[in-house]
Amino acid sequence: MKDCILMTGAGSYLPIKKTSNYDLSKYVDTSDEWIQQRSGIKFRHFVSKNEKTSDLSTKAALNALQETNLHPKDIDLIILATTTPDNTFPATAAKVQKNINSNATSFDIQAVCAGFVYALSVAVSMLKNNFGDKCLVIGADSMSKILDWNDRTTSVLFGDGAGAVVLEKSKTTDIKNQNWGVLSNVIYTDGKHYDLLFTDGGASSNQKTGFIRMQGKEVFKHAVEKLSSSFNEALKLANFTAKDVDWLVPHQANQRIINAVIDKVGFDKKRVVSTVSKHGNTSAASIPIALDYALKKKMIKNGNVLGFQAIGGGLSWGSSIVKYGKPKNS
Ligand code: ACO
Repeated sequence: MKDCILMTGAGSYLPIKKTSNYDLSKYVDTSDEWIQQRSGIKFRHFVSKNEKTSDLSTKAALNALQETNLHPKDIDLIILATTTPDNTFPATAAKVQKNINSNATSFDIQAVCAGFVYALSVAVSMLKNNFGDKCLVIGADSMSKILDWNDRTTSVLFGDGAGAVVLEKSKTTDIKNQNWGVLSNVIYTDGKHYDLLFTDGGASSNQKTGFIRMQGKEVFKHAVEKLSSSFNEALKLANFTAKDVDWLVPHQANQRIINAVIDKVGFDKKRVVSTVSKHGNTSAASIPIALDYALKKKMIKNGNVLGFQAIGGGLSWGSSIVKYGKPKNS
């Protein structure tokens, strides 16, 4: 008998306010041409004045639950990855729990753009260690709240949004069904690079939220190297090669990073889910938003093998391999 942690549904939400590069260029010294050429981004969505990270998360979570026909009371754990919580405390996950009317044990995880792969990894460990049977993993960020509109090197790259997946533990003796669900996870941190990407504020530093500061060229180099190495490692742990992966669903930060990584690991461009042009870098939300997009477009199908990979401030990074959905007879 083996525990499989199945990924059985996904949902997402982008705020209504959609902003093009051209719209941005009215108040940031930039151009559509520069942004598209350097990042592949065309649009991003921004929260409205009273819209919070918990609101985005709630909509994504309910959307994911709808896909699985589960009720919020069926959920044992809510793990929410975010860098832009509603309040410094309590956890935004607690508000989502209230909003969806669930009893789940709920907490936040902070690993910036790597938040979703971190949260997935924690969720899998907890489910395997009997902290519950069903978990909502949410990635959600309102990055517009920490952008400095006077810094054109960062403000043009980010957007707001939320994505969620449902994980369900399933016990199986059928050998064919044991290779489903989350097959491998690797997560890493290198605090030596703390100052490459950070906010210049925090509760224990200056009692402010702060704005994003980034050494873009350095982050770019680390991203290509660390996303490639962690992806290769996750493949090896799952006993797969890149050819066994049906779809790569990478963190949607920058099309140039995605292109450089697939060149390095030898992955077919046609099997990469890319949504970065539609919403920019939504930090922890980007992977589940891209996953949900590809599921709803029927690109990803039940039983497809997926690769996830992400990197963010910390530096924190990681990759996962997942056989999506559930076996027909389960
Ligand atoms: N519009 C117009 N011009 C700009 C802008 C802008 N928004 N920003 C910078 N420039 C100018 C610079 O001033 C510079 O001009 P100069 O040559 O006259 O001095 C020129 O463009 C080139 O600037 P660089 O910083 O060298 O641009 P680069 O090619 O490195 O691209 C970028 C910058 C897009 C940030 C790139 O370094 C990058 O993608 N880094 C990765 C960062 C990233 O994606 N971070 C997200 C968070 S981490 C993660 O999720 C992976």
